[in-house]
Amino acid sequence: MATREIRVMGDECLTKVCRPVTEITPRIEQLIEDMLETMYEANGVGLAAPQVGVLRRVVVIDIGDGPIVMINPEIIEESGSQTGDEGCLSLPGKAGQVTRPNYVKARFTDVDGELYEIEGEELLARAICHELDHLDGHMYVEKVEGEIHDMQYAEPEEEVEE
Ligand code: NI
Repeated sequence: MATREIRVMGDECLTKVCRPVTEITPRIEQLIEDMLETMYEANGVGLAAPQVGVLRRVVVIDIGDGPIVMINPEIIEESGSQTGDEGCLSLPGKAGQVTRPNYVKARFTDVDGELYEIEGEELLARAICHELDHLDGHMYVEKVEGEIHDMQYAEPEEEVEE
């Protein structure tokens, strides 16, 4: 495994519509391993292949419950709405308020080539929507309500007071 360079906003890879994966080759498996390592090293909850310069429909997510690898994902159901701060590894240190569905059901191919469905609420639903947008060349900044602001880092030391 190796980490890959995360492309930042302004890189044209982040504006492209990505191609579907037609076969899970060793190269795709390597990409997935590298994306997971890159996401964990950057303390992100999700990463899409175009963020590491690969224009393929692959997403990794981990909101703290373990890794989810989604190949050719699509949202097949959504409901409700949630509004909250969202950030992106391609726009480090920044965040902005975005409204997303509160529930989504997504269908995708997993690493073994099996068709799989997942349901997500709240943060998971938000992460799925955010990462799938990347596969179509969209960044959350296009959906921000109000200003993009500096991210508030939650320092463990400060949490002791609560
Ligand atoms: Ni992002």
